[in-house]
Amino acid sequence: MPQNRYGVQSQLAGWLVALLYLAHQQLTVLLARSDRFGPLREDYRGWHYLLGSVLLGAIIWRLLLWRREADVAPVAGVTPALHNWGRWLALVAYVLILAAPFVGIIYAWADDLKVHLGPLPALPSLMGRDRDVWMFTGYFHSGLGFMLLVLNLAAIVTTAYALLRHGKGLLAIFPPGYGVQIFIGVASTVYAFTTFRSPEPGPRALAIFGGVCALVWLIGWLIHRKRHPAIKPQLGGFSRVAAPVAAISLAALGAYGPHALFKVTPWPMGEKASGPPGVTSHLAVADHPAARVMASAPTPFENQVRDETYKWCRFCHTVEKNGPHLVGPNLHHIFGQRAGTVPGFTYTTAMADAGRKGLVWTDERIAWFIADPQKHLPGTSMIVSSGPIPDPAVQKAVINLLRRETMADAAP
Ligand code: HEC
Repeated sequence: MPQNRYGVQSQLAGWLVALLYLAHQQLTVLLARSDRFGPLREDYRGWHYLLGSVLLGAIIWRLLLWRREADVAPVAGVTPALHNWGRWLALVAYVLILAAPFVGIIYAWADDLKVHLGPLPALPSLMGRDRDVWMFTGYFHSGLGFMLLVLNLAAIVTTAYALLRHGKGLLAIFPPGYGVQIFIGVASTVYAFTTFRSPEPGPRALAIFGGVCALVWLIGWLIHRKRHPAIKPQLGGFSRVAAPVAAISLAALGAYGPHALFKVTPWPMGEKASGPPGVTSHLAVADHPAARVMASAPTPFENQVRDETYKWCRFCHTVEKNGPHLVGPNLHHIFGQRAGTVPGFTYTTAMADAGRKGLVWTDERIAWFIADPQKHLPGTSMIVSSGPIPDPAVQKAVINLLRRETMADAAP
């Protein structure tokens, strides 16, 4: 009996999605690392939207074909249960990719950013700046990335199992294009994660990943060169139910990622505190001595610290008067101010408590805090993206930069 195979359209759509997904992933890494105020950021953002929109079109095409493939038979040597699991992993991933652009556009609009598709004119914005919507969509925009990552990792583990058990790999167990999409996707993620702080560990991590994969492939090939295990032709009732439940649960697990890694939450959590008048420099310019120190002139070292370290502070904090709160509070006039008291920001209880116990932001206390926020103020949600800053020279440069940008109009 001839076996049903994926049609030409499914093949094309699957490979197109894979290609666009991988290109978009590279662009997103560039965007996330680009200087928030640098000249390239707007370009990267535009192409991120443009490629995301084309990917959206390809995903819709791919999903429209999905139902027609219900009776596609597994590749020879692949069990129906594996084939079914591979299809569910791909389907849940495709649905997440479908959702991402909608979440992304609202995230940008809520931040008052223009959504322009590459060189094309901007789309008209349907809403104004809204911090709650921004926080929620921001959480899930990044959450979708983690959900896909968890599914991709599950697909890699599945492949290892399939190779060792049946001698069948990525191309055999997953729908067209999807196997390569997850393999290169995970390899790029390995590279992106290991090169975040410095580029050196990247090639080594990639080599280890490639080496382990090649080893598993080789062992699978050696075992199954001659032997072909018997295969049950029917899909059992358990697999039919367990596959979708497991794929959706894995994705849900990924939604926890942004909190686990960046300590962010989808909505404000913690408390809004306020300091006594005069101590909170937002209410009145503080007369604390720390507010009256002058910033010293910039040095070449300080400029280097600005590009490598301080730029991450600015990812999460605005510094100008009445600037919006981002992931962290606006830091205007932070020197001499009691911790955890900027109006309108929801702090962790850890930070609010530190303020109640008398923590006031002086050069020494900021240095102490950024040296290792998680260790020195357990329970705080602040993470310095480029890593803790134990080096006193770097601390000093960060503090000087911060002082220059936040205290210009406070000096006597
Ligand atoms: C990933 C986002 C993020 C980065 C990067 C970041 N911060 Fe923060 N920052 C926060 C959050 C969130 C809080 C509030 C913490 C809490 O409530 O526990 C905070 C709080 C603070 C506070 C206390 C504010 C107050 O009102 O008491 C200071 C000072 C501060 N950050 C300075 C810095 C400096 C300097 C850097 C760069 C070295 C930096 N932050 C990098 C997110 C960030």
